[in-house]
This record gives sequence, structure tokens and C-alpha cells, in this order.
Amino acid sequence: MSEYRWNLSEYAVGYDTAADVIHPHYLEIQDAILAGLPFPADAEILLVDLGGGSGRLAARFLDRWPRAQAIVVDQSDPFLALAERRLAAFDGRGTCVLARLQDDWRSKLPQPAGAIVSMSAIHHLEPAEKRAVYQEAFEALAPGGIFLNGDEVRPERDYRREVEAWAEHMRRHMASGSIGEAFHPALDKWIERNVTHFGGPRKSGEDCHETAAAQLAYLQSAGFAVVDCPWHRHLWGILRGTKQ
Ligand SMILES: C[S@@+](CC[C@H](N)C(=O)[O-])C[C@H]1O[C@@H](n2cnc3c(N)ncnc32)[C@H](O)[C@@H]1O
Repeated sequence: MSEYRWNLSEYAVGYDTAADVIHPHYLEIQDAILAGLPFPADAEILLVDLGGGSGRLAARFLDRWPRAQAIVVDQSDPFLALAERRLAAFDGRGTCVLARLQDDWRSKLPQPAGAIVSMSAIHHLEPAEKRAVYQEAFEALAPGGIFLNGDEVRPERDYRREVEAWAEHMRRHMASGSIGEAFHPALDKWIERNVTHFGGPRKSGEDCHETAAAQLAYLQSAGFAVVDCPWHRHLWGILRGTKQ
């Protein structure tokens, strides 16, 4: 079986270096997630980032909340190696857990989480796996905790136009040299899966885009009392749930 693309070291480095060019709303979604965390500056909470990759969002969180802890959960050794290096600056407040989101990451947390966040990761799970991860996230949160997933979300209309627009954005930035060549095969394959084979069958690990409405229903059945989508643009949205 071929290696899952996110486990290739050159892809981890390539994504870490160019994420805010590859993803047209990368920093905007990070900003919105951080702005959506309702905690005072001296909060001693635990934040968990599911599929947190190289720790870019966790590092920004730890910068802003100097008494908090963050755990990056990810299935990729190369991504977590980058995260460990980045989080070393925070004197033990940032740590990593190597786990698939489909497996038991929850028992590896030292305490209930005040916040569980995720970015550009959960859409790799097929529908039943998404439902299960939302359930686990609900169980892992402390009462009053918040869940925020800033992810690729299938728009209700113009899905094909949106994936084509992102493919065009990727092509333009590959041609301009602002995305390193080692990451080009990853983007070419994204275009092949999502544009060339638009509408084809999807399996776990591919881009299993689902609408905000479908995913808010999963959050509701997981037990989240208040669910909404406070930000939605093109192919991206933030899905929010609060545990009462
Ligand atoms: C596009 S990267 C995003 C990384 C990070 N969240 C960010 O926004 O910079 C996708 C990440 O999701 C992780 N991932 C994908 N499927 C996963 C799974 N089933 N379990 C855990 N992590 C997964 C990959 O290893 C990779 O680190």
C-alpha cells in the first residue's frame, strides 16, 4: 500500500513552509478560531488541536494564552517532528500525541479540554469517521468547552466552481514559484482527485467534503447544545459547537 501523503517528510515541510499561500484563507481562519476562544488571557486551560500538523495554530494559541497548555494530535511523524521543534519554545506547555483521529487519542489527554480545535484535517475522514470524531471531541471537552473546526466544507451551491477556483489558485502559485517544487506533486494530485475526477467516489484519507449543514447535524447528535457556522467562504467554513 502506498504511503499516506501526509506522512512524506517533504510534504510536511512543503505544507509547513507554504500553507498560507496554498490555502487562500489560512491565516484568516486561524485568526477567527483564536478570536472565537472565549477565555481570559490568564486562563489555564488545555487546548487540543486535532490533525494539528506542524503546530502553527497551537503555537499562536500558546503565544496568546501564556498560562495555557496545548496538545497537537496528528497521525504523521514528519508533521509532529516539526510541531515538536516549534512548540519547544513554550517550556513544556506544548506537546504532541501521535494518533489517528479514528483511534483512541482521547485517553492520551491528561485532563478534559477547555477547547478542541482543528484545521484542514477532519475533511479527510469519511462521514461515519467524522461523526465518531465529533463524538470523541464532545466527550473530551470539559463542561462549557468549545469545539471549532476550520475546514474544507462543501458549499451548498457551486461546489465544482469552488474546487476549480482553488485549483487555479494552486496552479498560479506553483507557476510563480511561491510554493516549493517538492510540494507540487501533492497539489497536482489534489487537482486530479477533485477536479479531473470531480464527483467520483471518495474514501477515507481523500477529500471527503461535506456540507456545513450535514456536519452541524453530526455535532448536534454528538451532544453539542449550540452549533453553528460563524464563518463560511468558498470551500471553507468554521463549524462550532459548545458543550453545556
Ligand atoms: C493539510 S494538513 C493541516 C495541518 C494543520 N492543521 C494546519 O492547518 O497547518 C492535514 C493534517 O491532517 C493530518 N491528518 C490527516 N488525516 C488524519 C487522521 N486520520 N488522523 C490524524 N491526523 C490526520 C495530517 O497528518 C496533516 O498533519
